[in-house]
Amino acid sequence: MPIPTPHITAKAGDFAETVLMPGDPLRAKFIAETFLEDAVLVNNVRGVNGYTGYYKGKRVSVMASGMGQPSIGIYSYELFNFYGVKNIIRIGSCGSFHKDLHVRDIIIASGACTNGNYAMQYNLPGTFAPIADFDLVRRAAELCEKAGVNYKVGNILSSDTFYDDGNSGMVWAKMGVLGVEMESAALYCNAARAGKCALCICTVSDSFLYPEENTTAEERQNSFTKMMEIALELA
Ligand code: HPA
Repeated sequence: MPIPTPHITAKAGDFAETVLMPGDPLRAKFIAETFLEDAVLVNNVRGVNGYTGYYKGKRVSVMASGMGQPSIGIYSYELFNFYGVKNIIRIGSCGSFHKDLHVRDIIIASGACTNGNYAMQYNLPGTFAPIADFDLVRRAAELCEKAGVNYKVGNILSSDTFYDDGNSGMVWAKMGVLGVEMESAALYCNAARAGKCALCICTVSDSFLYPEENTTAEERQNSFTKMMEIALELA
């Protein structure tokens, strides 16, 4: 497919080989303005801000994914397959099912379960297990150790629904799944199919076990800063 693509108007070479991907376009803007030097806006279709700049001298991009597997499915597909992007690191928020994970802790999603059908398109005679790139997982864990943050590495659930009809994702906890968000499984499928690398790091924004801990949008914004720095170091 020629570029620009239906959802990204950037030119060839506008994106760095690693793209950080928050869900929220305003968070992409925040990262570019707070952490990047010489950041240039390379995409703004549908308000999905994409920027390329430099972090400690290394060229890096940041672009929003929107919410849910269909949305991150579109953006990560176009970046991997048409813009030559090699690594996508999603930095998101998640709900936690685990007793040792509290609000502001970090989940490194080495695998992504899903209640969605994204992988059906591959016509596989079984169930595909979407996983992160091992090297990115390993290095993210090392950076969390160094930063002294409480984190866990394991499975996450990529749910197609935020509002469940009485069927909370919490049942996945019995399989050791650490928490729930809405994007990783599709991102990992696209990376696998394209032969590229992906990782999702999530800050716990709400806990199913400790609902009293839930934070405001403003507090969440601040606690994401640490995760952003970890992702930028990874890039
Ligand atoms: N469900 C899905 N996505 C989320 C949640 C949740 O509870 N919290 C943060 N992202």
